[in-house]
Amino acid sequence: MVHPYGRVKRAASAVPLLAGVPVESGVMGIVSRSCRNCHSENTEWPLYSYIAPMSWMIEKDVHDARSHMNLSRWRDYDPGQRQQILSEIGSLVRNHGMPPQRYLVLHPEARLSGPEVDRLYQWTRSERKRLKAEPPSASAGARLNAAESGGTR
Ligand code: HEC
Repeated sequence: MVHPYGRVKRAASAVPLLAGVPVESGVMGIVSRSCRNCHSENTEWPLYSYIAPMSWMIEKDVHDARSHMNLSRWRDYDPGQRQQILSEIGSLVRNHGMPPQRYLVLHPEARLSGPEVDRLYQWTRSERKRLKAEPPSASAGARLNAAESGGTR
């Protein structure tokens, strides 16, 4: 059978979301509840996600969502990419652009309250500030070393 996004379900990961970043538990709770299912490799697939054509729509969503922002691969983003994503998160949640409305219909528990939007937004601001203040980072150094020793990056 044709199954265009079949491999999406197989990419399961035990890496914690936003690994390596200081995130208070309140913010982590919000992200896990409202964003994780699409934007990480730690997706809980509901029963309906196994039934075509619903399954294809959902797999496409998750595939697209991960390609824009994958919280299981936060370490792979450089500080500039992180800052960019953080500012998108801030404006999207404040404009109620994320989570998508079509998702909230099926997952009302993912809806963000006003205070939750604020909290998430404040976190994106403080994390961006922290990234800006960081001296040329340890991870950039590590990449440089890898390059010098013949690494591929
Ligand atoms: C139903 C799955 C789903 C959920 C849940 C979800 N998103 Fe998304 N998100 C997407 C998809 C799909 C895209 C790709 C762009 C689009 O279709 O709008 C995306 C794109 C994004 C982007 C990138 C925007 C850009 O311009 O590159 C950010 C940032 C984002 N989402 C943040 C969040 C945050 C924060 C949450 C939780 C509060 C969240 N999303 C919840 C599906 C989801």
